[in-house]
Amino acid sequence: MKEYYENKVAVVTGGASGIGLALAETMLSCGAKHVVLADFNDENLKRETGRLNGDYPGKALGLHCDVTREAEVREMIRRAAAFGGSLDILINNAGAGVSGVFDKQTNEDWEKAFALNFYGALYGIQAVLPIMRKQGGGHIVNIISGIAFTPMALQTMYAATKAALNGVTLALRYELWDENIRVTSATPGTTATSIWKAGGGEAPPDAQSPGQSARTILAGVARNERLVLGDGGDVSGAKSCFNPDCATEIDDYLLNVARKRQRGEWVV
Ligand SMILES: NC(=O)c1ccc[n+]([C@@H]2O[C@H](COP(=O)([O-])OP(=O)(O)OC[C@H]3O[C@@H](n4cnc5c(N)ncnc54)[C@H](O)[C@@H]3O)[C@@H](O)[C@H]2O)c1
Repeated sequence: MKEYYENKVAVVTGGASGIGLALAETMLSCGAKHVVLADFNDENLKRETGRLNGDYPGKALGLHCDVTREAEVREMIRRAAAFGGSLDILINNAGAGVSGVFDKQTNEDWEKAFALNFYGALYGIQAVLPIMRKQGGGHIVNIISGIAFTPMALQTMYAATKAALNGVTLALRYELWDENIRVTSATPGTTATSIWKAGGGEAPPDAQSPGQSARTILAGVARNERLVLGDGGDVSGAKSCFNPDCATEIDDYLLNVARKRQRGEWVV
């Protein structure tokens, strides 16, 4: 996969921690020309950009960007392309695992969830397309989640936002194919990052590291896969969830998850 990233300029949103940071670091280790971390957490951004520039002098740039604000995304993409001299890869990774009881969630909560997990990526795609068209190609990667294939109770917002992003991604792939602009959906698999703490829980003990997720995603992206699945759980979820032959088992499984979660036991 190394060759695919050599001399490329990449932007990773939500790049200041977790999977996004690992994606950025792995691309640098593969010989990327420049990597731009775009994030709204300035403290992490400064620290991690400094660390990456220690290992890869002059190759990393941190840009403050709240992806829910369209104007900030446009400006971030403009500055990233100016810094890199081109913009070959955009990874829309910023996101959160919004969870909660459906009845307690307001329409404002729904709008916030879509603003981050869906519109944040949409703004990125819209901003980068003219640049990729002008330079004759590029690759857009949208980080979804296994929840898009296995929608679970108490995660209606997360399931809806990531399924919507997956729908856009897979349809757009063929709309842009003949313009040499590649479009890929990727699930990281269950990964130990701060996303679990933010949701009030802990990563399961068997969660993989951000580095492992990043390597799986980047290998699939380099092969121009339509859908990269980050771990075995996501592979079986994608295979079985909408398979009519598995309907009864899936119903049993998801009902069991729902009941446990409703009793306060956070299972996946
Ligand atoms: N960790 C997992 O198990 C897992 C599983 C499936 C999907 N994902 C997806 O992977 C992606 C990365 O998550 P992670 O696990 O690395 O979590 P994380 O919390 O470590 O990283 C998310 C990053 O996004 C940034 N961010 C959040 N809101 C932002 C905004 N409005 N503008 C700019 N940046 C913003 C945060 O500051 C943080 O740096 C998310 O899209 C998440 O849904 C994660």
